[in-house]
Amino acid sequence: MTYICLMLVEKANQIYEEAKAAIKSAPDSKTLYNVKVNFLGKQGQLSALMREMVQLPKEERPEFGKLVNEKKQNLENHYESREQELKKLELQQLIENEKLDLTLPGPDRDLGKIHPIAKVIDDISSILNFLGYSVQTGPLIEKDWFNFEALNIPQDHPARDEQDTFYIDETHVLRTHTSPVQIHTMLKQSPPFRAIAPGPVFRCDSDVSHSPNFHQIEALLIDKNVSMADLKGTIAFFVREFFGPEIKTRFRPSFFPFTEPSAEVDCSCPICKGKGCRMCKNSGWIEIGGSGLVNPKVLEQANIDPKEWQGFAFGFGIERMAIIKYGVPDIRLFSDNDIRFLSQF
Ligand code: DAH
Repeated sequence: MTYICLMLVEKANQIYEEAKAAIKSAPDSKTLYNVKVNFLGKQGQLSALMREMVQLPKEERPEFGKLVNEKKQNLENHYESREQELKKLELQQLIENEKLDLTLPGPDRDLGKIHPIAKVIDDISSILNFLGYSVQTGPLIEKDWFNFEALNIPQDHPARDEQDTFYIDETHVLRTHTSPVQIHTMLKQSPPFRAIAPGPVFRCDSDVSHSPNFHQIEALLIDKNVSMADLKGTIAFFVREFFGPEIKTRFRPSFFPFTEPSAEVDCSCPICKGKGCRMCKNSGWIEIGGSGLVNPKVLEQANIDPKEWQGFAFGFGIERMAIIKYGVPDIRLFSDNDIRFLSQF
């Protein structure tokens, strides 16, 4: 054997041992594949060795070629068995990693909350329920007659302009206030009775303190010998219960077609306790709604004899009450559905 052939055989053995060790110790399929490319690939070390064969005398070439091919075949066998081994191992690892731990705590679920407007309606209703008022409802698409006529607001009455109305057709509107429920209740029940009607109302109006869709609560009491003193006592009690015992009530003479006499209701500002702040425009007082003794004309429309029965009524804005109680700066926050705002209540 020529010296050069000895050298090449030696080199073949070296490459073989190195490759065998690398195959055996490859920790994963990717490394194993790289080992294959490095030793057995077209540009790999064994192919390079084959190309060196030209240095050998012709008679030594077949023997040497055979030797290298045997080693190559041998390494390929090693490669395949290691590949199988690693595949099994990796599958096992995958199964291991994907195993469900049923004892782990579940992902956090955000709990829903009552919307602040619904909460205020609930709170107001429960105070008035305590005073014997039961909840009544009426349609949101209201006949013009219930929303206006029966409440002593005839066609062309200026009070209609104050309530920018969404008209459905000539005889139907989206109710502009909860007062029409007074009429539904009087037509349904015979006196004496006490009723409240919370719910949505609609006006064509929108800015920081006005929303086209807001909520009111109406209260109506029909009985004998009802006076302004009953109305004032009821509202003062209600305001103290809702806002706190230190909150005062003030009545200002006003006009509503469906009450006579009429009064607007203010409460002392719960934010600054009457000292004056931005919320109460430095007056110490905030308006919460309208009230009055039921106009005899309205009783007559609902077939109740005004000589025998009298009543009082009041209507408050729910958003307004929520804004005052919680110091909310913009009415639109209630309908924006921002969870950061809603979760504070
Ligand atoms: N309905 C009136 C409005 O929306 C508020 C109101 C005033 C209701 C006086 C009443 C009342 O029951 O007596 O502006």
